[in-house]
Amino acid sequence: MSQQHRTMLVTSALPYANGSIHLGHLVEYIQTDIWVRFQKMRGHDCTYVCADDAHGTPIMLRARQEGIEPEALIGKMNAEHQADFAGFYIGFDNYYSTHSEENRAFAEDIYLKLRDGGHIDRRTIRQFYDPEKEMFLPDRFIKGTCPKCGAEDQYGDNCEVCGATYDAAELKNPRSVLSGTAPVEKESEHYFFKLSDFTDMLHDYLQQATQPEVANKMNEWLEAGLQDWDISRDAPYFGFRIPDTTDKYFYVWLDAPMGYMASFKDYCKRNHLNFGDWWDQGSSAELYHFIGKDILRFHTLFWPAVLEGAGYRKPTRVFAHGFLTVNGQKMSKSRGTFINARTWLDHLDPEYLRYYYAAKLSGGIDDIDLNLDDFVARINSDLVGKYVNIASRTANFIVRHFNGELLSTKEYGDHETEGGARIIAEAFEQREYNRAVREIMRMADSTNQFFDENEPWKLAKDPAQKDKLHKVCSRILHAFYVLSIFLTPVLPAMSRRVARELFGMSRDFIWADLDSFPEHINPFKHLAKRVEPGAVTAMLEASRESLAVTESEPAAGPLADEPVADTIAFEDFARVDLRVVKIVKAEAVEKADKLLRLTLDLGGETRTVFAGIKSAYAPEDLEGKLTVMVANLAPRKMRFGVSEGMVLAAGPGGKELFILEPHQGAQPGMKVK
Ligand code: MSP
Ligand code: ZN
Repeated sequence: MSQQHRTMLVTSALPYANGSIHLGHLVEYIQTDIWVRFQKMRGHDCTYVCADDAHGTPIMLRARQEGIEPEALIGKMNAEHQADFAGFYIGFDNYYSTHSEENRAFAEDIYLKLRDGGHIDRRTIRQFYDPEKEMFLPDRFIKGTCPKCGAEDQYGDNCEVCGATYDAAELKNPRSVLSGTAPVEKESEHYFFKLSDFTDMLHDYLQQATQPEVANKMNEWLEAGLQDWDISRDAPYFGFRIPDTTDKYFYVWLDAPMGYMASFKDYCKRNHLNFGDWWDQGSSAELYHFIGKDILRFHTLFWPAVLEGAGYRKPTRVFAHGFLTVNGQKMSKSRGTFINARTWLDHLDPEYLRYYYAAKLSGGIDDIDLNLDDFVARINSDLVGKYVNIASRTANFIVRHFNGELLSTKEYGDHETEGGARIIAEAFEQREYNRAVREIMRMADSTNQFFDENEPWKLAKDPAQKDKLHKVCSRILHAFYVLSIFLTPVLPAMSRRVARELFGMSRDFIWADLDSFPEHINPFKHLAKRVEPGAVTAMLEASRESLAVTESEPAAGPLADEPVADTIAFEDFARVDLRVVKIVKAEAVEKADKLLRLTLDLGGETRTVFAGIKSAYAPEDLEGKLTVMVANLAPRKMRFGVSEGMVLAAGPGGKELFILEPHQGAQPGMKVK
């Protein structure tokens, strides 16, 4: 199994720092991680880096909304993202942030090289401006009436009703999503990257570095003629300031891909490696970006052109994948199919998702569907019923009758694995994991069939058949060993247990382990169980619930789509009936991760309120405390009962949520003024 040694740097797209990781994201991180693990198992020098994409308007605004600095927000999200990824065994060699000194240095240096190379233009453009918020508005922060079909409440860049795309200036009745006011057009000087300087280079590049269907699609842009790319944004903006300006910032998508370099630079520093060996023009290292098909333009046009213009090497290949659907439809919050990584981890095994995605992923850009019934069936019948079952019903014959000794492959006649190994390695290499999994399950089928045909449970009862029993079971366990090696990129944790616990190895499997076979096996320990009935439903319920909670707590939710009025009239305020209340009882709500059911005393009257503060308070700490509630809120029906009002709390969420505690002199029922 000789092969050339390769040096590779692999990336996944950098997730935005203003949202949690969800199952859609995980298609990409799992796809990349499987590929990286495969390359590492093959003995290649393969490094996997990623980072949070920390800049841009939504992040700036979300931090404002939470009343914290952007740095605090992105720090918190970075930790959350890393914990979620670790939960799914995404094995980054480095995870960094685009808001880093390394990245600032790259952004400035590359920009100056582009400018000095004559690839930057400046010109004045007109853009919508929110006079109340004193900021220019990205298209997503403008809504109005579609100029084509007249549908109301459409974003500034496209209409979700008729599908038209247009300029924000064409919208009828535009208004700012931030303040609700009508935006005005205002002039500002912007910086442009002259993408068309690179048309010829890109023509060849697309051919060699992207999938055929991608090259075709991207070529349409080339044929239409490449437009200059606006790389600047006006203050206020959370990002890096453009050198030699006072109030211009790099557009987030300029410095985002440089985050790949920044993360690797940080890795080099800590591992004493020479950055240029990977990134200099003419480097023999291979560079791969895994991305979703929604960000192709940035990775296959802008980014290679920027690298070329600044004198760096370009990515060897850009691998795009499709989008996730759940039960055949777009992920939906109301159906509970917008599932966060953490919610999955709370209910289901992460390796089950890895296995399912692997079984579905091809090397192309087709969307992939997570059908939850099919998911349960495949885990139970294939992963547990076929693969795990091989070892669980064979290992103990060897342990009990032969003291754990395995016969070598020579002693029972070789069965064909080398052909399978070649096919499977090729499939992993080509990112056709569905083909690899199909082949692996085909081998599992034939192994189970071999077991059934030889009836080892009968052989075990007949002393004259002892030798045959030994051969049959050794051969079956050899097949299990081989299958475990094949599945290692997909199921790293399970494979580790097979290697170490069952086969007594002192390290994880590598591909070259196919050439040998242990002489001994340990007693089989439980490896994996079937999907628990009800786990999937509980996860969907929890996904619905977390939405209900964020909806009732605007401060903790994502950016609201609707205009948030900035001020309210005094009369509006006067209508809010705020009362001091005593918490007489606090209890957890079954199946609700975030909610507590509070029984509140308003000075004689009792109310039940569901409050999303379980992450911050244990029920027993609340009982007896005074707090403040909105007493005249219309009752709201929730899944767990009717909530008759709302308790006030402050803070970004999680453990940092603080209910208001009036002075002990206050009495339940008192009006709060
Ligand atoms: N921040 C940018 C990427 C910058 S890379 C220099 C971004 N972030 S993202 O959080 O929106 O998406 C991160 C990756 O996850 C992207 O490659 C995106 O295509 C992928 N996915 C996000 N939602 C997805 C699905 N529903 N399905 C499959 N992949 C999805 O884009
Ligand atoms: Zn329309």
